[in-house]
Amino acid sequence: MLKTNQINNLVRWLGKVIVTLVLAIHFISRSPGIAVADITAQNGAVLFEQHCAGCHLNGGNIIRRNKTLKLAALKRRGIDSQAAIAEIARNGIGQMSGYAESLGTDGDELVAEWIWQQAQNAWIQG
Ligand code: HEC
Repeated sequence: MLKTNQINNLVRWLGKVIVTLVLAIHFISRSPGIAVADITAQNGAVLFEQHCAGCHLNGGNIIRRNKTLKLAALKRRGIDSQAAIAEIARNGIGQMSGYAESLGTDGDELVAEWIWQQAQNAWIQG
């Protein structure tokens, strides 16, 4: 048999569990709202890390030093939109081969969107 103070403890404990659950659900259900834009940007950043940064660290180019992802270099070559970058991500350009397979569905657009944003910001914002 439970004594009164054991029952009190149990009730208090249950109270804490319920409060914790309610708070957890509150935070979990809030996050999708904040995040859609952030997740898109994050995915782009992750894809860039995985597939492009090896040669294009910080928007540079370790192989062809003038062919960077900085705005001036892109524009010099007539690459002036997210779509143009996505096309290069998929199919490559000059000495660079394409990454359509490893980027997967929509990966070309996501990584291109991120690169285009970085280029507008001179690659100073993570
Ligand atoms: C193995 C090294 C390598 C990797 C990895 C790589 N690139 Fe490149 N990238 C190059 C080289 C080399 C060039 C210059 C190609 C040429 O003009 O001959 C280039 C050029 C570019 C250009 C044109 C830049 C300019 O100023 O002319 C874009 C845009 C680009 N890459 C995007 C990407 C994207 C997006 C990824 C990842 C999906 C990626 N690259 C991965 C080597 C790489």
